[in-house]
Amino acid sequence: MITLEGIEGAGKSTQRETLATTLTELGIPFLQTREPGGSPIAERIRALLLDPAHKGLCAQAELLLVFAARAEHLDQTMRPALEAGTWVLSDRFTDASFAYQGGGRGIPAESITGLESLVQGELRPDLTFLFDLPAEIGLKRAKARADLDRFEAETLEFFERARQVYLHRAKQEPGRFRVLDATLDVEQVGRHVRQALIDFVTRMQSSGQ
Ligand code: TMP
Repeated sequence: MITLEGIEGAGKSTQRETLATTLTELGIPFLQTREPGGSPIAERIRALLLDPAHKGLCAQAELLLVFAARAEHLDQTMRPALEAGTWVLSDRFTDASFAYQGGGRGIPAESITGLESLVQGELRPDLTFLFDLPAEIGLKRAKARADLDRFEAETLEFFERARQVYLHRAKQEPGRFRVLDATLDVEQVGRHVRQALIDFVTRMQSSGQ
């Protein structure tokens, strides 16, 4: 399982395409998906979560909805793919819950860890790309696009806290994370992403996985 993470405006979607193209070139069967979402019911929960009209949604309800969507996504999409030997490339996963609901909303990490075990069991991503940039730059980029969703309308401080949690997690798990400087130009980031993926695949293949 490969995941992409980062605050708003980090250029994740463009780099997801780079990863998809590289996996295709390498002949690796994969499924591209996203969170929240990735299955019919999870996509409906996504709509609830992102709707700017739901401004007053309380933090605990938000956290539980994110994990409800994840449970569905895992059951309907991710686990069947992984069990069939298909790689899964997910635009966000549980690191986003630690960053946004933990860092952003201030929910204690232990509560999130509890839900993570409940919903995922032992399942964790094998490789995570973190597209890192200062919240100020990310928000400026996100705000240049039309129609802000409920998260994009959050404050600079919210995203700075989320960024710090991402960086902290990356530091704690250097084997899983590849941190990329998302302030660099898109082509440059793309080259780093491509190389990191090729290195990972080579390592997996030489260890027989
Ligand atoms: P996206 O804009 O990358 O598609 O992600 C949708 C939003 O959902 C994004 O602002 C981050 C947020 N989110 C959480 O708050 N918690 C989570 O666990 C996930 C997966 C996403």
